[in-house]
Amino acid sequence: MANVRISKLDSTGLLQLKNMDCAPLPVERDSIYILFYRFFNDTCRLAYVEDELVGFILALVDQTDPAHAYIHYFFVKEEHRGMKIGEMLLNELISVLRTKQLRTVTLMTGNPKNEKYYSKFGFVRDEDMMDKDKTDPVYKYIIEDKKMIFYRLDLRRQLR
Ligand SMILES: CC(C)(COP(=O)(O)OP(=O)(O)OC[C@H]1O[C@@H](n2cnc3c(N)ncnc32)[C@H](O)[C@@H]1OP(=O)(O)O)[C@@H](O)C(=O)NCCC(=O)NCCS
Repeated sequence: MANVRISKLDSTGLLQLKNMDCAPLPVERDSIYILFYRFFNDTCRLAYVEDELVGFILALVDQTDPAHAYIHYFFVKEEHRGMKIGEMLLNELISVLRTKQLRTVTLMTGNPKNEKYYSKFGFVRDEDMMDKDKTDPVYKYIIEDKKMIFYRLDLRRQLR
């Protein structure tokens, strides 16, 4: 198996990341990646094989609830999938968040097939978010129009 290295969001990685084709995920503007590099670096991790960036996870801490982190972007290049690189990235992030004594980590996805993947890590559907007051047009847009599904992981829960 290839030698995978998990690292922080360093400048070399950022410059590779901004050019990466992350289909089927939507294309991000450079400025979003730079935002994570500058202000949310602690909660981001990269996966390298040799010097090639092959995957990444970008998360941030919620300004309205500092005990909550949100995973914004999680991706492994197609040719490197199924080699537990995603698992390494997610486990590393979860470990960082636990060290920081955060309470929960959440994410949203438009792909219901991802549920099986996340459930292995202890994520469950975030019913509170799914039931969010749809009178807020933004939540209505995310949940009803974009058909996003929310998941949460209780970081205080002990995994088997
Ligand atoms: C989700 C993702 C990051 C997982 O990365 P990964 O390195 O392949 O994951 P792992 O090797 O840790 O785990 C592989 C598992 O993912 C599943 N999987 C999901 N999509 C897969 C794919 N396209 N190729 C290979 N395995 C895939 C496999 O069935 C496997 O399950 P198993 O452990 O029961 O055998 C990666 O599939 C990906 O980038 N997908 C596209 C982007 C995406 O959906 N991101 C998440 C947005 S919320």
